[in-house]
Amino acid sequence: MKAVILYDSKSSGGFTEALIDALGLSLAEEGVYVEKAKCRANADYRFVQEFDLVILGAPVYYFVVASQLLGSLIHGNLRQHLKRKKIALFLTCGSSEAMAAVLYLPQLKMHLIRNKILVEKIFASSALTDGAIDDFTEDLLYEYQKTIKTRTSSSQWTDEALDRLHSAPTFIQGKFKIMAEEYAEEWGYKEITTEMLDEARAKLEGR
Ligand SMILES: Cc1cc2nc3c(=O)[nH]c(=O)nc-3n(C[C@H](O)[C@H](O)[C@H](O)COP(=O)(O)O)c2cc1C
Repeated sequence: MKAVILYDSKSSGGFTEALIDALGLSLAEEGVYVEKAKCRANADYRFVQEFDLVILGAPVYYFVVASQLLGSLIHGNLRQHLKRKKIALFLTCGSSEAMAAVLYLPQLKMHLIRNKILVEKIFASSALTDGAIDDFTEDLLYEYQKTIKTRTSSSQWTDEALDRLHSAPTFIQGKFKIMAEEYAEEWGYKEITTEMLDEARAKLEGR
């Protein structure tokens, strides 16, 4: 598996960079090929296509997630190249986990509503516990493996979902089937149901 850590920080050799190096090491020990790249809002993010997993991480400064990562999502082409990518998120900050989950993580997640987010984590710079990074790696690899395992059974359709497929005009049934199966694979559904089809449609329509 190939993973890239896309990060931002204003501090060279600060807490975030140290954490990323430790995370890279922890992933590499588990056999993951890891690269890291510092975000620039105007960078060309086509290269993320090569990676199976994209880990996004940054500190919070003055209540806002670091600007080059946010800027890459809002103004750059990062979001476009994250399509269908499995993602993990982390923030480093001085606040408590609970506060960061409410105030800061949504600043990233609101731009990633179409992505499968495997794991999200807050690392408090003042209270990094032993084993926190290895736990993050373990959770991440567990969730990643789950998405791979469900892939083999992603083409199971319930009778109701098949009825819905067959009620579509014949010329779009093939495309409909592929899109539904890709959605199921991406979101880890073992079975394609009418509820999943409704959800996929709502997401496609941006609802
Ligand atoms: C100028 C500055 C502003 C900060 N503002 C916040 C903040 O609003 N909320 C918060 O939880 N942490 C805040 N922090 C804490 C940082 O997010 C935290 O220490 C982070 O790990 C710093 O990462 P770095 O060493 O890579 O810069 C701030 C730190 C600095 C230096």
